[in-house]
This record gives sequence, structure tokens and C-alpha cells, in this order.
Amino acid sequence: MKKLMILSCALIGLTSHTVIANEQQEFQMQSKAAIKEFATTLKSALVGAMKSGGPTEAIQVCNQVAPTIAATLSEKYGFEIARTSLKVRNPDNKADCWERKVLNEFEVRKQAGEEIKTLTFSEKVTNGDSQELRMMKAIPTGAVCLKCHGSNIAEPVQTSLSELYPEDQATGFSLGDIRGAFTIRKTLEQ
Ligand code: HEC
Repeated sequence: MKKLMILSCALIGLTSHTVIANEQQEFQMQSKAAIKEFATTLKSALVGAMKSGGPTEAIQVCNQVAPTIAATLSEKYGFEIARTSLKVRNPDNKADCWERKVLNEFEVRKQAGEEIKTLTFSEKVTNGDSQELRMMKAIPTGAVCLKCHGSNIAEPVQTSLSELYPEDQATGFSLGDIRGAFTIRKTLEQ
């Protein structure tokens, strides 16, 4: 009888462990899919607007389309997806403590030779009595990004940016810098 109990306890232990592992695996798979969708949708809108109206028109894409895509995908996937950075343009995108820590670690990992596009980090975070699954994926600075995030931003782009974002910190980036990251958080049911 005792043996049987030990066995069933071991089984329970194993089962709950597997559930947690699956939950995290599923979260990571869904996060990857959501990020891919976010990145491709935004990039095609951005590149399209740059071609048709140049950077001044494309600012509207980043200003209005990016938050809309984020909201649509958050609803579709059932978790919160956004973009953040150590230097943000929109104060709504400001990194929280956990995001700041991960972004700093991405900088260290980049210095150590990891490629920006492969930098990801995922963790289960406990806050008081609630738990969340969180994940981040770094975003590299490409040539097209410099028109609005580089050092010498042409007019009238600079004026439009300053009008829309008086607290803009997201300039002065160079090709190959980490521009920021996609960030996802999913609250776990108790
Ligand atoms: C036409 C101008 C323009 C171009 C080109 C551009 N961005 Fe932005 N970017 C913006 C604006 C405007 C925002 C603020 C969006 C908002 O209000 O949420 C922004 C915000 C961001 C953010 C969110 C964090 C923050 O600073 O608020 C990231 C990350 C980002 N851009 C990355 C990129 C990358 C990577 C590229 C190149 C592939 C790029 N951007 C190209 C204008 C631009």
C-alpha cells in the first residue's frame, strides 16, 4: 500500500511538472508566432508607406498602425504584446524593471558575440500571489530604421517627430545596435 502511494505521488509530481513544461513550451511557441506576425505586418506597412510618401508619412504608420497591430494581436493570442526599449520614443512603451534587466542582458550577450536576431529570453515571474509568463525578443536596427532613429534625422521628419513625441529618446542609434525588443506577458490563472 505504502509503495503504491509513493508511486502515485511520484506520478502526480511528474504530471504537474509536465503540465508546467507544456504550458511554457506552448507559451513560447505562441509568442514566437505572435512576434513574427507583429514584425512582418508592421514592416510591410512601414516599407509601403516609406515608398509611397517617405518617412513623414511613415511616421503615421508607427504612430497609429503599430499600437493597433499590438492591440489586435493581444486579443487574438490572449496575452499582452508590445514593443519596448532602453531608449523609447513613446513613453507608453517604457520598459518596466524586468524588461530593463532583460534588455541590459541582451546588450551583454550581444557584446559576447550573440547575433541580435537570435536574442530571446523567457521566464515565469511571480509578483505577490500572481504569476506571469514573460518573454522578450530583441529587435535589430536596420538601415531603414535610421531615417527616424539615427543620428542625423532629416527635416521635416525631425520636426514631426518632435511635435508628436516631445520626450523622444529613440534617436542616435547606429546600424547593428539593439533598437529594442518585442515583449509579451501572460497572466496565469490561479
Ligand atoms: C518613419 C519613421 C520611423 C521608421 C523608419 C522607424 N521607426 Fe520605429 N518608431 C517610430 C515612431 C513614430 C515610433 C513611436 C511609436 C508609438 O507611438 O508607439 C517608433 C517606435 C519604435 C519602437 C518602440 C519603442 C519606442 O521607442 O517607443 C521600436 C522598438 C522601433 N520603433 C523600432 C524600429 C525599427 C527596428 C525600425 C526599422 C526596421 C524602425 N523603428 C523604423 C518611427 C519610425
